[in-house]
Amino acid sequence: MQADWNQTGHLLGLEGCSRSSLISLLDDAAQLLPIARNESTGTGEFIGRTVATLFFENSTRTRLSFTMAARRIGADVLDLNASTSSTAKGETLLDTALNIQAMGVDAMIMRCTASGGPQLVSQHARVPIINAGDGKHEHPTQALLDALTLCQHFQKKTLEGLTIAIVGDIASSRVARSNAFSLTTLGADVVFVGPPSLVPPEMESLVESDRDGVGTIRIAHDLDAVLQDIDAIMMLRVQFERHGGEGIDERYSQQFGLSTARADRLPDGVPVLHPGPINRGIELDPEVADGNRSLVLDQVTCGVAVRMAVLQGLLRGQSS
Ligand code: NCD
Repeated sequence: MQADWNQTGHLLGLEGCSRSSLISLLDDAAQLLPIARNESTGTGEFIGRTVATLFFENSTRTRLSFTMAARRIGADVLDLNASTSSTAKGETLLDTALNIQAMGVDAMIMRCTASGGPQLVSQHARVPIINAGDGKHEHPTQALLDALTLCQHFQKKTLEGLTIAIVGDIASSRVARSNAFSLTTLGADVVFVGPPSLVPPEMESLVESDRDGVGTIRIAHDLDAVLQDIDAIMMLRVQFERHGGEGIDERYSQQFGLSTARADRLPDGVPVLHPGPINRGIELDPEVADGNRSLVLDQVTCGVAVRMAVLQGLLRGQSS
């Protein structure tokens, strides 16, 4: 198990994070929401500091919201364009990261296809490393923004007593894994829903749920059977780039897509989340994605606030 993020000086994952450190980070992020909503001006606390974004996998929301978050706290952003960088000439991830560190950056935000890539770099780096998604492993800031969105929606500091369905390609999803750690640590029960090929039985033992106040994880293969038992539903994209989507056909959408008809059978007030990018018509109908239940754009705004909180927490721990 990983150590709690605030003891390591890096944010590599949410496995092992305590409830108190999650609550305190979410509290900080909630305070920053007016800035994330552009209702008040940024803090300027880190003027003169520079954070680097190293994205070796595609990204829209995560990279831009880290950039926005860094600027809102006054920091400059140095952005590596991975497709035109020397990684295309065979340079290793670690060499690239250490070269960028040598330019004098104060933190590095990394996304890569290799699970454990940010952890490896953190063992050699002297600046904070933030994992922005590593392969199928973890995507901690996504799960933090999901938790903030849910806490704001339900007006609660923890998620005790709530049951949250995470539906889709669980096996390949770093979002599902990070959420399993944070949601259960905040007290929610999680139901992973999808076909057996995308929801392997071992996902049920991802967390030790006999710890005090920690929620449980269970698996369901029939989405319709759980609709009445849940307080929120998070739809995930099928990760075609990781497995080619073999065996995924129109039956997938019929059984596991959140169509308008299926969404109408959810109890009143059950919100719909999705980390993006949405494959409209596959896992989520456009009417649901844009409808009253959707928190999709709130998630994006919460992402800026959470990333500001993470960056300021880590940069404060660094001597300037
Ligand atoms: C997710 C990711 O990259 O893991 N997206 C995101 O960060 N907003 C989920 C996905 O790609 O489906």
